[in-house]
Amino acid sequence: VIDIATLYGRGGVFTHDPGFTSTSSCESAITYIDGDAGELLYRGYPIDQLAEKSHFLEVCFLLLYGHLPTAQEAEDFENRVTRHTMVHEQMTKFFSGFRRDAHPMAIITGVMGAMSAFYHDSLDINDPWQREVAAIRMIAKIPTIAAMAYKYSIGQPFVYPKNSLDYASNFLHMCFAVPAEEYEVNPILSRAMDRIFTLHADHEQNASTSTVRLAGSSGANPFACVAAGIACLWGPAHGGANQACLEMLKEIGTVDRIPEFIERAKDKEDPFRLMGFGHRVYKNFDPRAKVMKESADEVLSLLGIEENPTLQVAKELERIALEDPYFVEKKLYPNVDFYSGIILEAMGFPTSMFTPIFALSRTVGWISQWKEMLGDPNQKIGRPRQLYTGETRRDYVDVEDR
Ligand code: ACO
Repeated sequence: VIDIATLYGRGGVFTHDPGFTSTSSCESAITYIDGDAGELLYRGYPIDQLAEKSHFLEVCFLLLYGHLPTAQEAEDFENRVTRHTMVHEQMTKFFSGFRRDAHPMAIITGVMGAMSAFYHDSLDINDPWQREVAAIRMIAKIPTIAAMAYKYSIGQPFVYPKNSLDYASNFLHMCFAVPAEEYEVNPILSRAMDRIFTLHADHEQNASTSTVRLAGSSGANPFACVAAGIACLWGPAHGGANQACLEMLKEIGTVDRIPEFIERAKDKEDPFRLMGFGHRVYKNFDPRAKVMKESADEVLSLLGIEENPTLQVAKELERIALEDPYFVEKKLYPNVDFYSGIILEAMGFPTSMFTPIFALSRTVGWISQWKEMLGDPNQKIGRPRQLYTGETRRDYVDVEDR
């Protein structure tokens, strides 16, 4: 705590907290994390119970409205989401404005922001009905947009939503079906996909969610706010870690090379970090990583690919790191992204789709947090202060005198 009077000659106190390691920015009743106990609750329900017993659209309802839906509420909600899965046909033209090898995250960020140009009837943030329609539209359309970004990047025609399928199966269908050919969604993969969506659905005030809230605090429209969140998520220290992690596991390649990479991660002169390891809040274990590891085992064994070399490297890396004093002392454990890439790869996704799938899953969290913020009577525009370290006042010098 720095006395502002000393700094600026005026009264008042001021906290300087780079990275917001100990500053709360808001009140929230959505997600609870106990980093020491390795506990994550959505609206009070433990993540492992939701991953096992619930499904993603039910979790969406829970995050948005605060309670588990009755059978009627669930049906109505699913119908509403299903009605909005198509994107406006004119929006499909946006995709062709991107280079064909554009990263799908670049496309999704742009297309989500561009939705503000299409859905004028859901931009008024002061109208609860419009807020609700915007929320449903984004949850319904983000799988379609992500799948279209993928299809565009591999040069295949778009596959339109098939609304008789559940949310996860529909996404897989839009990604992997090819027109004029039969495509059956594998129920094992659909269940694993749904679980990945659920595990990533919300995580309180992480970087991308804080970005959405900060953008929303100025009154920006919901599509612009979520586009800002997607852009923030892309970074390798955040949502981009799942792509970076799988790339790292492949670079390691074989179990005998693990010690070399562990030593590099410990070397402060080397910028290399073990991707998928460490978390700002979890200092015991990430409960999502536990479910993800089980899921990776299950999916690979059901698909008959237990001998996956990447999974073997991941398991051995986890074992060695968890016995290494550096990782033990710094409380660095595998996070949610450590195993998710292995599952996504087994499903057939390229690494460039890993972060878009995270963005798809987190959309409901961003929207729930944005809605909560707008409903907070104490809501103010987010405006952090700074600790100025530049020059003190000085007079302008004419160019000939410099
Ligand atoms: N490998 C090696 N050392 C690490 C790692 C790692 N993955 N993570 C942290 N450390 C070390 C740091 O070098 C630092 O050491 P020091 O005390 O000697 O300086 C110490 O552990 C604390 O690390 P910080 O970076 O200060 O911790 P912070 O809370 O700021 O960072 C983060 C958390 C960004 C997740 C970090 O652990 C990291 O970069 N991990 C790898 C990327 C990753 O997996 N990100 C996904 C996060 S989960 C998610 O977004 C869904």
